[in-house]
Amino acid sequence: MGRIISIASGKGGTGKTTTTANLAIALGMKGQKVCAIDADLTMANLSLVMGIDDADVTIHDVLAGETDIKDAIYSTSYENVSLVPAAVDWEHVMKADPRKLPQVIGSLKNNFDFILIDCPAGLQMDAMNAMLSGEEVILVTNPEISCITDTMKVGIILRKAGLVVLGFVFNRYGRSKNDIPPEAAEEVMEVPLLAVIPEDPAVREATLEGTPVVEYKPQSPGAQAYIKLAEQIIRIAGWKARVMY
Ligand SMILES: Nc1ncnc2c1ncn2[C@@H]1O[C@H](COP(=O)(O)OP(=O)(O)O)[C@@H](O)[C@H]1O
Ligand SMILES: [Mg+2]
Repeated sequence: MGRIISIASGKGGTGKTTTTANLAIALGMKGQKVCAIDADLTMANLSLVMGIDDADVTIHDVLAGETDIKDAIYSTSYENVSLVPAAVDWEHVMKADPRKLPQVIGSLKNNFDFILIDCPAGLQMDAMNAMLSGEEVILVTNPEISCITDTMKVGIILRKAGLVVLGFVFNRYGRSKNDIPPEAAEEVMEVPLLAVIPEDPAVREATLEGTPVVEYKPQSPGAQAYIKLAEQIIRIAGWKARVMY
């Protein structure tokens, strides 16, 4: 049985897409069969970050009722990693019904070890439908207080809705001397700190190249942190998370 994990946060730009792409590839490197889904229906960019920009069939066609999800799964150049891309044009966005996301994504559960959902930020309908398609959630936040409290709110609501909150990824640490330290963030968040990802120019460079950093520069501090995150996620098996948190 696969694990369906939403990657979520309160604000945009915290690193959800970067985390989805790098975690997917790092899990794939460790022999896990992974499907990454671009569920940020209006601001889709996971496909670009993962180096696919010419998909004919997308999640939008599936949510428009025009095609089956199985036809929107693409294999990638990354070992063991498949991708469900999204369209970027407004015509497709208008036709797609986000309420179908949970059923569509749930139907893939038995086909992969991990299904990672790149969600929109916040608590609007698009975001809620994407986040609630997961059974577990990884929150992504940055070392700023408003970002931490917004993401905490998302975590509280998802837990109430029945998701298992695995914990949070503390991304872009070290960018400013005013950064909140990881231990303080963990105290505020009240969920486990899964990984600290440093601010790393290689991450941004990799994004521009269309090759996520774990593949682009595996020895960089950012890549190493994402590889550790993958190990941690494999370790926290779904059942254990359910008992512990
Ligand atoms: N650890 C990091 N170090 C440097 N840049 C980062 C890091 N994480 C993300 N970024 C950059 O921040 C920007 C926003 O990240 P993204 O993953 O698109 O956020 P979101 O999906 O949450 O909106 C991207 O340009 C990305 O390359
Ligand atoms: Mg994004």
